[in-house]
Amino acid sequence: MGSEPKLSVLFTSDEIEAAVNRLAAEIRRDYLNKNPILIAVLKGSFIFLADLIRRLDFPLEIEFAQLSSYERGTESSGKIKVVQDVQSNIKGRHALVIEDIIDTGFTAAFFLDHLRQKKPASLKLCSLTDKPSRTQVEVNIDYLGLTVPDKFIVGYGIDWDEKFRNLPDIYVLEQ
Ligand code: IMP
Ligand code: MG
Repeated sequence: MGSEPKLSVLFTSDEIEAAVNRLAAEIRRDYLNKNPILIAVLKGSFIFLADLIRRLDFPLEIEFAQLSSYERGTESSGKIKVVQDVQSNIKGRHALVIEDIIDTGFTAAFFLDHLRQKKPASLKLCSLTDKPSRTQVEVNIDYLGLTVPDKFIVGYGIDWDEKFRNLPDIYVLEQ
């Protein structure tokens, strides 16, 4: 066993909840009568999706996709693959991608291009967090929860090496 990584709170569960409530209100306003398909990118967005949709009181569907982004460690490789694609047909549907974090933007840009080829009626992006200081590919985030500094974060579904997803708050991992 190595030494325990040091975690410091960045956003408390109350702050996260306030951001999710605000996003739910914005999404409700825009999708109320559209029966959208919310496409959550695994694994990091599963808690965010679960909290978000319980605040949406209108018809919607959910889908999951899994992408491989980082080959190892914490640096983006820019090489992305679809490991598990959406199962239902999104052609002509209003699709809303649900992400945990936009870092360099490679993953989201790739996935939006991938989904656009399936000809949805509309395609937008909702991300719980964004790290603007790290942008390499400009991606428009239609619904953004929280802006994070140039730090590695964990908790609320977001991992480091598959660990810390279960923490209710969001922490900076001091390395
Ligand atoms: P991007 O392609 O560089 O935008 O990276 C997006 C993906 O990298 C996210 O979906 C996460 O899986 C991962 N990632 C980027 N930054 C962090 C972080 O601070 N903590 C945990 N995962 C991260
Ligand atoms: Mg990840």
